[in-house]
Amino acid sequence: MKTVAWLCALLALAYADPAVYFKEEFSDGDAWTSRWVESKHKSDYGKFKLSAGKFYGDAEKDKGLQTSQDARFYALSANFEPFSNKDKTLVIQFTVKHEQNIDCGGAYVKVFPASLDQTEMNGDSQYNIMFGPDICGPPTKKVHVIFNYKGKNVQINKDIRCKDDQYTHLYTLIVRPDNTYEVKIDNSKVESGSLEEDWDFLPPKKIKDPEAKKPDDWDERPKIDDPEDTKPEDWEKPEHIPDPDAVKPEDWDEEMDGEWEPPVIQNPEYKGEWKPKQIDNPDYKGKWVHPEIDNPEYTEDPSLYLYDSFAAIGLELWQVKSGTIFDNFLITDCEKHAEEYGNETWGATKDAEKKMKEQQEEEERKKQEEEDKKRKDEGGDEPEEDEDEDDEDEADKVDKDEEEEDDDDNEIPSKDEL
Ligand SMILES: *[C@@H]1O[C@H](CO)[C@@H](O)[C@H](O)[C@H]1NC(C)=O
Repeated sequence: MKTVAWLCALLALAYADPAVYFKEEFSDGDAWTSRWVESKHKSDYGKFKLSAGKFYGDAEKDKGLQTSQDARFYALSANFEPFSNKDKTLVIQFTVKHEQNIDCGGAYVKVFPASLDQTEMNGDSQYNIMFGPDICGPPTKKVHVIFNYKGKNVQINKDIRCKDDQYTHLYTLIVRPDNTYEVKIDNSKVESGSLEEDWDFLPPKKIKDPEAKKPDDWDERPKIDDPEDTKPEDWEKPEHIPDPDAVKPEDWDEEMDGEWEPPVIQNPEYKGEWKPKQIDNPDYKGKWVHPEIDNPEYTEDPSLYLYDSFAAIGLELWQVKSGTIFDNFLITDCEKHAEEYGNETWGATKDAEKKMKEQQEEEERKKQEEEDKKRKDEGGDEPEEDEDEDDEDEADKVDKDEEEEDDDDNEIPSKDEL
């Protein structure tokens, strides 16, 4: 922690420890239920449970909040001491693990102002920032970065692809007081730039001058027909001619077969339509460019990044296939601290997590092979190839059993965040 404090102090040119506004790693058993509030806005929100999942790097450290029911809305939030990011960097970070091999579901956080009523949180609750991955079929696999600006939710203009595998990934959003931002996945930068350029918060700086108009005599043709060029006199030749080599067959009977005519062939001297030579247009002025003027509607806003209050973080989302695990939430003013915390959490267990999953797959494969062999030895039919899906079957069964009790609501609503 000492190095981190020093680095942040250096960056901020002030002797300050990194401020940690919120941190949650679910390391105290059921105690999280006293820190997180489930919304009562609807009666059938999906349940989160504490779990490290089917495979993990560390059975304790990797415990996080897992969505446990398919085709549900989820609405859970935790609050913290309100703060403003005035003149400060803001970092929002958390990990997401789609161990269920997700087909459709949100996995983003919303960070709310102090005005949020946690027990009433729902899709319409006004947030400051929405950030994180969202998957729905192959076309939608993106990281949302939405800012509420003067009451309107504004989505980033760039496309940031999210991870769609089954491992834990670290998502980080950095918003700086110089109105720049950075998005990182697994502690590597995937996007960055300026808030003004990458979101349509403000009207454009320049517009086309409404007074300007292309002059009537503006010549935009780079080439013209050569006026000196004329069609040669012998140009015109018929396209088809009677075949000069054809001869009337000896047994041709004019009475029976009619008058003999040679077959028609393509004329080798036919030159096609005559076109004059092209020359450079002496009056060519280039493409007319509409002159631009300063947009009178535009006013710079040096505080695009700024919010008066942040006071709660929420998981307000929709999942078709549940099983996503959220963990290692961090909200801080220090980029370096967030990076280090990411290393200590996601970074420390990711390799062991991968190893455990690969071992499980290997065991599964061996088991399958043995079963196939047994069936073959017993003289049964050749078993069908059944790859990959096996590890899901069990989880699916559990989910379905849970679902059956209250399966009256089969309609799958679509979720439009904007
Ligand atoms: C985080 O880990 C990466 C990779 O090991 C390393 O390069 C980086 O310096 C670490 N960051 C911090 C702040 O410790």
